[in-house]
Amino acid sequence: MCGIVGYIGGDQAAPILLEGLEKLEYRGYDSAGVAVYDQGRVQIAKAKGRLQVLKEMIHGGDDIRGTLGIGHTRWATHGEPSDVNAHPQASVSGKFAVVHNGIIENYLSLKEYLMRKGVAFLSETDTEVVAQLLEYYYHGDILDAVVKVLSKVEGSYGLGIICEDDPDTLYAVRKDSPLVVGLGEGENFIASDVPAILKRTREICRLRDNEIAVIRRCGVTVYNTEKEVIPKTPEHISWDISAAEKGGYEHFMAKEIMEQPKAVRDTISPRIRGGRVVLDQITLTPEQIRAFQRIFIVACGSAYHVGVVAKYILEDLTRVPVEVDVASEFRYRRPIIDEKVLVLVISQSGETADTLAALREAKRCGARVLSIVNVVGSSIANESDDVLYTWAGPEIAVATTKAYSTQLAVVYLLAIYLADALGRLTPEQYADYLRELEALPEKIEKILENKKDIQYYASQNFNAKDIFFIGRNLDYAMSMEGSLKLKEISYIHSDAYAAGELKHGTISLVENGTLVVALATQDRLFDKMMSNVKEVKARGAQVLGVAVEDNRKIEGQVDFVFYIPRACDIMLPSLAVIPLQLFAYYVASMKGCDIDKPRNLAKSVTVE
Ligand code: F6R
Repeated sequence: MCGIVGYIGGDQAAPILLEGLEKLEYRGYDSAGVAVYDQGRVQIAKAKGRLQVLKEMIHGGDDIRGTLGIGHTRWATHGEPSDVNAHPQASVSGKFAVVHNGIIENYLSLKEYLMRKGVAFLSETDTEVVAQLLEYYYHGDILDAVVKVLSKVEGSYGLGIICEDDPDTLYAVRKDSPLVVGLGEGENFIASDVPAILKRTREICRLRDNEIAVIRRCGVTVYNTEKEVIPKTPEHISWDISAAEKGGYEHFMAKEIMEQPKAVRDTISPRIRGGRVVLDQITLTPEQIRAFQRIFIVACGSAYHVGVVAKYILEDLTRVPVEVDVASEFRYRRPIIDEKVLVLVISQSGETADTLAALREAKRCGARVLSIVNVVGSSIANESDDVLYTWAGPEIAVATTKAYSTQLAVVYLLAIYLADALGRLTPEQYADYLRELEALPEKIEKILENKKDIQYYASQNFNAKDIFFIGRNLDYAMSMEGSLKLKEISYIHSDAYAAGELKHGTISLVENGTLVVALATQDRLFDKMMSNVKEVKARGAQVLGVAVEDNRKIEGQVDFVFYIPRACDIMLPSLAVIPLQLFAYYVASMKGCDIDKPRNLAKSVTVE
């Protein structure tokens, strides 16, 4: 996730911007830059890599003199990490400079439009389109140009804007991407996150969607897109810096769990246009898709669990046989693959050593590799034939949550895309799936609103010694993820079992008080699941059920139920995973574990 900071006041802007960006480093980034109004021109300095590179380049800010500026740390989404793609992005004459968080969904059509008008582009970013549009629509009134641009762009954005025609004003706009205005004495600020400005002010105003802040040294006016003034009430920040970095949450994991509706929305909505799944990034032709005889999925850990869900979904929708394997096994088992195989590689970091080795093995055998990756420009992304990025933003907690959810979202998009190319979906089915997919973020939000129920249940059970997760089909795949999440952060022993497999051995472990989490979201398997619940209850188990809200038949059969909203069967995993993440989180928190950095684990496993 990118970071924004902006300053207008009486001091030199560049050192303040660099200091603010430093406070945003924890969020992860791959390049950084500043733009400062300096003697009639907007001067931009930006560089790929650590902030230190930029700092050295401009000698701690001494090289760019001026008291108005914007700064940015970029986490690549459109275009690889590079100097050119770093922000600020400028308009063609250099008049406007823009920093941007979020995604401009219709940037390609806007870019084509401007190119037809003769505007030349330098970068691959969606942000440059905003800078160019500002200049294109600018006829002497910057606020008018901003309003016009907002009427053209679709997507999510937090924007900081400066223009060389107005050395006394900083502009800020937001939609679906956080942005605050910091209020000082004779100086004011903008920031995507409070820590960036906390050292200089604790008084802030939060911008709401479609609000435009016009910020001068002596005051701030906020307008709506009709140019009407919106009154704002300042808020005093009393948190310390470490709480502020986590957006007020106790742990990054909690923050990332709560970010899931946005992350899933950011991953899905730019790829649904005009009622169709549009995967611009992949070059596979319908003929190539029809030629695949099998699909292999390889990944590690939670990403492998996404693969297990994907197997059920891809087979269901495409009727192409799918095999799923952990990468460390795949790479040494002489898999039978050739050019008729599509290998799907899933990885948050894009650097996992086993997954990368599996990818290379697949390519060596002639397979086509499509990867689902979060980190733009990572090794797995670079070595794949096609990449679909998850736009989750950087994930800081070791235990994955939002990356998992966005990987699943991409699996749905891909399954619909492939099934359509294979002629497996009627227009009605296609439209239904898209409707269901677009409804997911809101349903995830609804589950998160009820997190207190899970917190209560965790408070009753955090001393458990063993916890089993059971489910059938997609619920079994979810059990695997629920179990991994719990054990990795709470250190409680846990295992996941296909519910029908219990009586073949595992049930001997169930005794009085053993906690069993039973996932029962799939209607057609509900009665079978309830038989398995009866089996464990008869041996004294305590059962937490996860079921769909309109199916109350589970009541009385389990000790506690957590309901999730109704969705079509294949999309229920996106909802069922949320209470499992929350349960793991609250149990670990009540045990006092180091949630964001569990013992013996690393965020990116770059060794075999
Ligand atoms: C578990 C977790 C790990 C990763 C695994 C793969 O919460 O985060 O199991 O899923 O190490 O990592 P990536 O996705 O970076 O390849």
